[in-house]
This record gives sequence, C-alpha cells and structure tokens, in this order.
Amino acid sequence: FRSEAEGFRPITFFPDRPDVMSTFTTTIRAPKTDCPVMLSNGNLVESGNLPDGRHYAVWKDPFPKPCYLFALVAGDLGHIEDRFTTMTGREVHLAIYVEHGKESRAGYAMEALKRAMAWDETAFGREYDLDIFNIVAVSDFNMGAMENKSLNIFNDRYILADPETATDMDYYLIESIVGHEYFHNWSGDRVTCRDWFQLSLKEGFTVFRDQEFTADVRSRANKRIDDVEVLRTGQFREDAGPLAHPVRPDSYMEINNFYTATVYQKGAEVIRMMQTLLGAEKFRAGCDLYFSRHDGQAVTCDDFVAALEDASGIDLTQFKHWYRQAGTPQLNVTGTHDPGTRMYALTVKQHVPPTPGQPNKECMHIPLRLGLVGDDGRDLPLILDGQPGTPTTRVVELRAAEQTFVFKDIPTRPRPSLNRGFAAPVVVTMEQSDADRAFLMANDSDSFNRWDAAQEYGAHVILRGVEELQAGRTPLADQAYLEAIGRIIADRGLEAAFKASLLTLPAEDYLANRIAVEDPLNLHAARKLLRRVLAERFKEQFQELYNAQRINAPYVPDAEGMGRRMLKRAALSYLGALERPATTLLVKAQFDAADNMTDRMDALGILSGLDVPERAQALAASARGQEYVTLRLYLPVGAAAAARSEEHTSELQSH
Ligand code: ALA
Ligand code: ZN
Repeated sequence: FRSEAEGFRPITFFPDRPDVMSTFTTTIRAPKTDCPVMLSNGNLVESGNLPDGRHYAVWKDPFPKPCYLFALVAGDLGHIEDRFTTMTGREVHLAIYVEHGKESRAGYAMEALKRAMAWDETAFGREYDLDIFNIVAVSDFNMGAMENKSLNIFNDRYILADPETATDMDYYLIESIVGHEYFHNWSGDRVTCRDWFQLSLKEGFTVFRDQEFTADVRSRANKRIDDVEVLRTGQFREDAGPLAHPVRPDSYMEINNFYTATVYQKGAEVIRMMQTLLGAEKFRAGCDLYFSRHDGQAVTCDDFVAALEDASGIDLTQFKHWYRQAGTPQLNVTGTHDPGTRMYALTVKQHVPPTPGQPNKECMHIPLRLGLVGDDGRDLPLILDGQPGTPTTRVVELRAAEQTFVFKDIPTRPRPSLNRGFAAPVVVTMEQSDADRAFLMANDSDSFNRWDAAQEYGAHVILRGVEELQAGRTPLADQAYLEAIGRIIADRGLEAAFKASLLTLPAEDYLANRIAVEDPLNLHAARKLLRRVLAERFKEQFQELYNAQRINAPYVPDAEGMGRRMLKRAALSYLGALERPATTLLVKAQFDAADNMTDRMDALGILSGLDVPERAQALAASARGQEYVTLRLYLPVGAAAAARSEEHTSELQSH
C-alpha cells in the first residue's frame, strides 16, 4: 500500500518524516514459486538462489530519500519491457509489471512513459538518473498512483488500455498520470518536502509539469480548458466552502485529508502565475537553480520561490500570499473610453473573501493577462505609460485593492479580453452585453477566452431560461446566440477538439454554482431545451459535421483522433436531442457498429438521455458500459481529465 504520507510507520519502526533521508539497501528473500518477481528502489546489485526453493535479490538506491518513497514488490507478475536512451546517451531499462494476462494492455503506458522521459529533458533539462525504471500496476493498489523512487506503483486502471475497454479519456488520463509520477523523480524525489505542510511544493509543481506535458503532446487550447473546468467546478467550490484551506495549510489533524484540489490544482496555478510573472526563460532558469541548489534535500515552498527570485531578480514577497491565504480572489473590472482623448481606462478592484480562520485578507499580487479587441475583431496595440513596446497582449500586475490602467490611442470602445489563458485563478466580473460576448466568441485571438465567452453566453441563455420556466413560461430562442453558434459550426479553420469544446453547452455542475437557489429540475430542462433549439436550427449542419468526422480508419488514441471523436460526439448529441426516429436510429447505429469504447460510450451516453426503446436495448447490451460507470473514482492527479467525461457518465448514472 501507499506509504505516503505517514504509511511507513505501520510497516516498521522508523523516523517517518520526509526530512529524514536515508540511502536504502533492500534484500528480499522469498519462495521462487510464489514470488518470482522481487523489486525495490534503485538498481539490482545482486541476486541468486537460496536453499529450499527460495531466492534473493539485493537492490541499492544510491539517492538518499525519505521513507515515504520506499517501495517493495514481491509476487507473481507478468511484464513488458523497453529501453530509453537519455540525453547524455545512457541506456535505461524500462519495465511495466502487471497481473498475468494483462501485458498486452500495457503498451500505451510504455509509449507514454518514453514520451514523458523525453519531454522532461527538453522542457526542464531533467534527465533520468538510474539504469532501471519500473512501474508496477495492480488492480488493488489503494490509491491512484505513487512516485516511489524508480519503482512507481499504480492502480492498473491508470496503466491498462485497449480500444475495446478504454475510451479516449482513459488514454489521455494514462498518459498524464504516467507523466505525473515520472516527473516526480525530480520534483518530489531528488528534491523533496521538509514537512507535510509543504505538500504543494511537489504536488502543485508536478501537476503544473504534467499539464505542460499534455499541452505539448496534445492540444494546448483544450488542455487549458479541461484544467480550468476542473479548477472552477472543484477547487473554487472547495475554496468557497467550509473546507477552504491555503495551498500551504497551517495545521492538520490528518495529512491524508490534504491531498486536495487546493494543494494540487490551485498549487499548480500558483506555479503557472510565477511563470507568467517571470516569463518562460527566467522561470526555467529559476527551476534549474532550484534543482541544483536543493538536490538531495528536503525543502520548503519558500525555498522554491527563493530560487525563482534569485534567478530572475524579481521580488515575489507579496506573491507568497497565494501560499498563505485561502479563498478565490474576486476581481471587479470597469472600463471607460474617452473618444476625445482616445484613452481607455480599466479599473480593477480586488477582494479575497473571508475563509474559515482568515476573516481579513491582504491584497494579492496577481498577474492579469489581457487584450483589447477592436471593432474589426483584431487585437489593439496596448500602449501603457512606463511600459515598453506595443504588444497586443499584456500582463498587468495587480498589487493593490484598486488600480487603474490607462491605454492610449484606442479609437473606439474596445471589448476587453480579460485574464487571457486564465493566467490567474480568479473570478473576474465585468458588465458585458450579449453582443460583446457574441463578438468575443467569434473574434477573440485567445482560445481560452473565446471558449469562455461561449460558455458565459450559453450560461446566461440557460439561466434566463430557468427564470422563464420558474415563471411558468416557455423560454424564447435567443437569436443572437443561435447565430453565434452558427458561425462556430461553419468555421472550417477550427481545430476539431476546440470546435467540440466551443459547441458544448456549459455543464449543469458549473451552472449550479451560479444559481442563487438550487433548482436542478428547471436547470436540466432549460439546458435540454436549448440543446434542442440549437439542434432544430442546425440539423443539416450537425448532420454534415457528423458525417465529416466518420472516417474509415483504425482507432488511434492520439490527440487528432480524440479531437475528431469529440466533434463527432458533439454533433451526434445535438442530433439525438431531436428525438426523432431517424436520429435515434443514427445514435443506435453508432452504438451497434462501434469498434472502440469511445464511440460506443458516446452513443450510449446520448441514448441514455432519451426516452426511447433503443435506450433499454443499448443498456441491456452493455454490461461493459455499466462497468465503465463504476470505474470513476477520486484521484487528485486524474481529476482534471476525469471530470470531463462526467457529462455523459452522469447521464448514465441517473438511469
Ligand atoms: N504522491 C501521489 C501523487 O502522485 C499521491 O499524487
Ligand atoms: Zn503527485
């Protein structure tokens, strides 16, 4: 079982603290028949036979480590193996151990591991440091996955995949979790935490690293959307409720309760903001300094920040409130344009709401990335006193309760595109008309904000629909919204995955956060109604979109194939919403003909929301589909991607 955080003490007496670092030499003796496989950390230095059908193995890990990173595996397992040559030409022997009969499903995880090893060399200059790297994946590991030095331990649902049993989302998760645990080799193992208050030192940083890995090997635009959706629905809610706590907690009763969205996901956002403040180059220099300065040590979040400060010359004193203060900062923004002076003044007020034990907050240091979009849909050059250049996207630094930024030479009232790329984990409120939202939805050069404008507009339409339903009226179609969606459908320049995200209505979960009095039935009805109105209006276009994504090619779980299937699902879910015999048959036909779990699950998810005989048929035929539903369990590192598949799994669960 997992010995993080304090799990070594029930195994044996030991000073079970992360700042007690030892070099371990492990000798394992066991009967050959029961335990043909005997693994521990480091390199295998000796092995041989013993009397009475027993054998032994000696493993030596030259790197000092705390006991929470110790692992020992003895048992009867199958394995696959491979090799990786590091940036300095060293050969590393790779193996993934699984229960017998499952070896053929470990291949994707092995490819993902090699991608992760190569990526860490180019993105962070981090090379693997031993001759052997092993993963052991079993079905009854009591957590998602764990970064034990050179012997990562997994629950095998995050290793095993084949097209028959795994969806695109499962492949995506496997790649990101294999990456996450591997990246801990430096951010966690070589440099570890002084005490458990510093948990985010390794988790926030490693989530940031795995997010960047996925963004680089898949679609950066969609990865950011995924991560922000998870942050907003999970972490923002945590930060606003009775369990709110800082990224670096002040106290704990049980550290196992602190493997939270705040420590992981908000922790990753804190790292991302420092990258934004420093710029990519200085940030990288700071990370290099951190790793070289603290190699072999157990350190604190302050040490990490100090390395970034020393490498960049940038003062992060005020920024460190992000580690200390809980709660999601709220930004209130107003803009005024003066056509006479051609000045545009943007006033930003910040406020951090009170949280348990923290009634009063200090002002935060917040990087706000923004652009101003002109009437022609293009970004305007941003001329700001005392700041060099005329870039079209700028990072302004908020440090006070209220600040005003005056942009020069702005001919007409621009549409502000605020918090581009969701550079800061904050809530931004600004008066905006539907027309502005539709405009940004069509024109914003920042893909995240373009998606966000579409979500905002969709949310407004649905929430207005809820009010209508509550008053006993049928909501009227919002023509401007329909037209904006129509333009997205017609836009051939959009990447498939991104287009699918733009066409996906805001989730009920997200909408529920924004409604004063819970009303799940009307919320569900209003959202369903909007889907249907869109489907009626664009049925030919959705049919065309659906047909265009159906290509006769073998299933490949890569970003391109996943994007195509996402778009196909989006189109099919609108067609299904028509609830006509022909469209229901189309959904059922995809279910019946699917040669992979993604297409099958997508069709089943859509059917499950329809009150038709095909639903019962598909559910009955789908013992596997049922199994899939129960497969989702809590895992911080996987939460990001898992939440994305929730829309259709939760529809299944409700039946
Ligand atoms: N340390 C484990 C992880 O990778 C739990 O998040
Ligand atoms: Zn981790």
